[in-house]
Amino acid sequence: MSSLTNMQINGLAAAQHRIQQDLLTALDAFSIPEPLKGAVHHAVMLGGKRVRPALCYATADIQLNKNFAAVRRAAVAIELIHCYSLVHDDLPCMDNDLLRRGQPTCHVAFGERAALLAGDVLQSMAFEILGSRLFDQGAAVDQSIVIKQMQILATASSKMVYGQMLDLESEGKQIDQETLEKIHKNKTGALISAAIMMAAVAVFDGVDPAIPKLREFAQAVGLAFQVQDDILDITSSTEELGKTAGKDEQVEKSTYPALMGLDQAVIYAKELHDQAFNALKFFNGNASELEQISLFLLNRKQ
Ligand code: IPE
Ligand code: IPE
Ligand code: MG
Ligand code: MG
Ligand code: MG
Repeated sequence: MSSLTNMQINGLAAAQHRIQQDLLTALDAFSIPEPLKGAVHHAVMLGGKRVRPALCYATADIQLNKNFAAVRRAAVAIELIHCYSLVHDDLPCMDNDLLRRGQPTCHVAFGERAALLAGDVLQSMAFEILGSRLFDQGAAVDQSIVIKQMQILATASSKMVYGQMLDLESEGKQIDQETLEKIHKNKTGALISAAIMMAAVAVFDGVDPAIPKLREFAQAVGLAFQVQDDILDITSSTEELGKTAGKDEQVEKSTYPALMGLDQAVIYAKELHDQAFNALKFFNGNASELEQISLFLLNRKQ
């Protein structure tokens, strides 16, 4: 695979910088008692590629200067839900992992009780932030946009939970491609799609044909993301990943490489990325940030 270009790296670095500051501002707005506060900061502030916020900003970049406060809140909210999903995903009763983002997992650092509750509170905080006026400058964002964003996030969060249940129930079992696709679309694709669609509803009217095109892009890129996560579990090292490599095979997870073999899984991930790129053609070059992030995702090693 070709290496990442400076443009892809710089674009993501700018998004990472912005979300890091916005997450800190958002967390500081809550008075959380210790040791929950420590667990929440551990879960949210220590690394992570910040792909979902980057997708939010890049979607908004198609329509400059529209409701950017709502986009910034959406970026914070989706990352908080994602961080909650990771904390719970790592718990002993789930994937039982010790390493995340190159650090001890939240329950290893703070104990299971604090980790469980950190996940719970991150979920509520996400919705509190979406409904707040954080980052507003001047006029408030139209409330109908806020309600749409909340609905998108709530639906995606439930889908993530359904996907996680199916994922755990499928350990050690032979499942067909249709079932595996359902798991991946729910546990991972839904939150990736929500990142894009929460920004889309903030910057486009509900009837704009951009909305279904972005949905098409989001669904392809969302599924591709988990197919690649499965691939990287085999092809990357623990150091590169910041989480334990080879874990899926150890616990007999149902994954794309396990179902179709590594080579076919790589081809499938590429096909999904092609589908995603094709959907962006509609924007005639105006979705260049989304194109750059897609390229970054296709070539990622972690
Ligand atoms: C990991 O997500 C879990 C999946 C949904 C595949 P990321 O690969 O986005 O994890 P971070 O946020 O960069 O740590
Ligand atoms: C994670 O899938 C999906 C969610 C956290 C919702 P994985 O279990 O494959 O994620 P990693 O590999 O632990 O990051
Ligand atoms: Mg898991
Ligand atoms: Mg896991
Ligand atoms: Mg994984």
